[in-house]
Amino acid sequence: MTTTISPLIAGNWKMNVMRGALEELAALAGMLTSGEAPRAIVVICPPATILSEVAHQGATSGIQAGGQDCHTQAQGAHTGDISAGMLADAGAQYVIVGHSERRADHGETDAQVCAKAEAAIGAGLKPIICVGETEAQRDSGEAEAIVAAQLATSIPDAANQHEVIVAYEPIWAIGTGRTPTILEIARMHDSIREQLNARFAEKGPTIRILYGGSLKPQNAREILAVENVNGGLVGGASLLAKDFYTIISAV
Ligand code: PGA
Repeated sequence: MTTTISPLIAGNWKMNVMRGALEELAALAGMLTSGEAPRAIVVICPPATILSEVAHQGATSGIQAGGQDCHTQAQGAHTGDISAGMLADAGAQYVIVGHSERRADHGETDAQVCAKAEAAIGAGLKPIICVGETEAQRDSGEAEAIVAAQLATSIPDAANQHEVIVAYEPIWAIGTGRTPTILEIARMHDSIREQLNARFAEKGPTIRILYGGSLKPQNAREILAVENVNGGLVGGASLLAKDFYTIISAV
């Protein structure tokens, strides 16, 4: 892990929990405050229905909250959508944009993801911009080129003045229990860093690059120690406080 960048571990609860998950949040808060202070910034991205509770309950133990998506517009006639400003109003400090599940389920393009990241920045949020290749793209040796193209069009120019976070999530590793090898992760993160440095002279070296996709208590230590892996985006293993705490402690 690059020492000058403080690591960040974000839990993505997806559409998997209801209010009962607030008990897991309380358990996690207890673990985080009873032991040594965590070395990582800890973020939970719950469903919007409990975002406000997560933001307020988490605040006492240093857990920050994030949304899972936002609209490109600040307001308007968009039934069912949530603006970045609304997430901020509910207490969020982060928002995931361009997760592969949204790209797949809602046909989100890189241009839309970029507009969402801009909207997030406009509302004072830090966007967690997701990129990643399919299994076929990796098998055909295109993974780095695909991710480079996604980065070029998904990250707004405003990243030179504002904080954005990149999450590299190989689609075939999400929820499957499979991960790239350590060498493959290292190569991809180095390639992302080179691209960020080339495009954002000032901010490039400071942008966090998270790894996501079957990050678990069993593999967290090894993956989070890789150069240019500045934390993780965790799905399944963030649902249980014990597992998520083990990952946070692996930093
Ligand atoms: P996973 O999901 O940890 O369950 O693989 C990661 C993600 O989708 O962010």
